[in-house]
Amino acid sequence: MAEDLTIAQGDKKAQYESLLPQIQGLLTGEPNLIANLANIAAALKEQFNWFWVGFYWVIDDELVLGPFQGPVACTRIKKGRGVCGTAWEKAATIIVEDVEKFPGHIACSSLSKSEIVVPVFKDGKVTGVLDVDSSDLSQFDAIDQVYLEKIVALIV
Ligand code: SME
Repeated sequence: MAEDLTIAQGDKKAQYESLLPQIQGLLTGEPNLIANLANIAAALKEQFNWFWVGFYWVIDDELVLGPFQGPVACTRIKKGRGVCGTAWEKAATIIVEDVEKFPGHIACSSLSKSEIVVPVFKDGKVTGVLDVDSSDLSQFDAIDQVYLEKIVALIV
């Protein structure tokens, strides 16, 4: 497996189309969850240079901070709290165009302006979430949802 990432140019869809098989390659043959979450976060950060990208994992009925790229972040989030806890509770992807307009948003950094949170499923249950924050408003849409859901589906 090559550890170099080829960074694609072009529109967002083209960037995801290039990234998806590369992430698949990074995960192939590596059974360790932490290693795989870390490489997914790093690959997404390298391609898109978002403000924050990382995982929270369900441990003892709380979301606990996992591998991420970006500034330090809050470590624990309860079910139903913030965007992450809401995505966990609803077992659904949530796109937030303006975090200040999301009731209960947890501001780990005041620089974060928009956000997408994608649940990770195992055996039909949410086992964690992928959280991506941008320092610009309205950065995430249905294209991000489709591809980020495909990316987290690669996690086994
Ligand atoms: N904003 C998230 C908290 C996690 S940080 O953004 C890294 C939330 O409201 O759940």
